[in-house]
Amino acid sequence: MRKTLALLTFCVATTAVAEEERRPLEQLVGTCAACHGQRGDEALQPSYPILAGQHQSYLEQALKQYRSGERNNAIMNGQAANLSDGDIKALAAYYSRQEAALYTPAYPDREGQAGE
Ligand code: HEC
Repeated sequence: MRKTLALLTFCVATTAVAEEERRPLEQLVGTCAACHGQRGDEALQPSYPILAGQHQSYLEQALKQYRSGERNNAIMNGQAANLSDGDIKALAAYYSRQEAALYTPAYPDREGQAGE
């Protein structure tokens, strides 16, 4: 019981830190802009993907997978390593709101996701 309580306290504390440590969005985006463009709508090399207009949930998942190493890419693993959950959420929301030449259609079975 005491162990469970300690674990729970630890989890709550860790979540709080992750949210608190969120850096200003401008600062975060500034780093990513070197490869993805300021709005995520440019690819400064053909191997750099367009982020603008992509689903928020997709971007969030991709960044979490780079951070954990589940998705392996030498560049992006390093880029995502120090992002907090709050950073990832803010970045994913930011890029999903940007207009891009690429079009990501709404997921057909989930109407709530359209235009996110
Ligand atoms: C030095 C160049 C570089 C920088 C800086 C960079 N990226 Fe990337 N990014 C890449 C490359 C290359 C890929 C493709 C990796 C792969 O093949 O998985 C990528 C992939 C991604 C993807 C996956 C897109 C998809 O369609 O699956 C996301 C999301 C992403 N980057 C977000 C970011 C964010 C947010 C930042 C800033 C914190 C950032 N990137 C900084 C080069 C960069």
